[in-house]
Amino acid sequence: MTSIMYKFPNVYNLFLKIIHRKKLSERYKFISKIIGKNKRVLDLGCGTCLLFNYLDKSCSYQGWDLNKNFINKNKNNLNVKLKNVFDYKDYPENDVIVISDLLHHVVPRHDELIKKAKKKTKKLIIIEPTVGINIIGTKTKFLKIVNKLIDKILSDDDGINSFEDRSKWFEKKESVHKFFMKFNPKLIKEFGLDYIVVLE
Ligand SMILES: C[S@@+](CC[C@H](N)C(=O)[O-])C[C@H]1O[C@@H](n2cnc3c(N)ncnc32)[C@H](O)[C@@H]1O
Repeated sequence: MTSIMYKFPNVYNLFLKIIHRKKLSERYKFISKIIGKNKRVLDLGCGTCLLFNYLDKSCSYQGWDLNKNFINKNKNNLNVKLKNVFDYKDYPENDVIVISDLLHHVVPRHDELIKKAKKKTKKLIIIEPTVGINIIGTKTKFLKIVNKLIDKILSDDDGINSFEDRSKWFEKKESVHKFFMKFNPKLIKEFGLDYIVVLE
């Protein structure tokens, strides 16, 4: 099953605006500043390609995602491909790779994705929520079931990865921070509900 967010690109964008409010555009502006001008950007798990709108016009953009609804919406205007982010050998030449809000979807391969993507670029920018996906806690069996239902109907079920794997993503902000610190980041910054991490 795929949640309502991943069925309809406009619903996805609306949910993000509701969740992040003004921090949403601020975070893309912040990242675009880090990316700079005249850069070839590869956006892995690009979703609805929100990042593209904030890039300097001198940059080139390629987005990969496995969600047909998202890719079809953008395929006439943008360089987007229905591709699996684990197809490392097909990554195009690039200056910057962006992995925004994707890592917790691809557990248990999140660590591998960072290491491989890092080898394929000069600059890797990661955005990831500071909190886990079990938004109402997991103390009782009942809460666990409700979490799964919310995930399936409304939130993170992308139709590609499993709830059980996603649930293994860190529950605490401190653990997410510790995970990123092992990659010796050039920058790690708390930004609204997310961490922005830069590896070079
Ligand atoms: C939370 S969305 C993030 C979208 C966008 N990067 C953003 O920040 O708004 C996660 C995206 O990753 C995509 N995705 C998950 N696993 C993938 C995979 N193995 N290959 C390509 N895309 C994947 C999903 O389809 C979804 O669009």
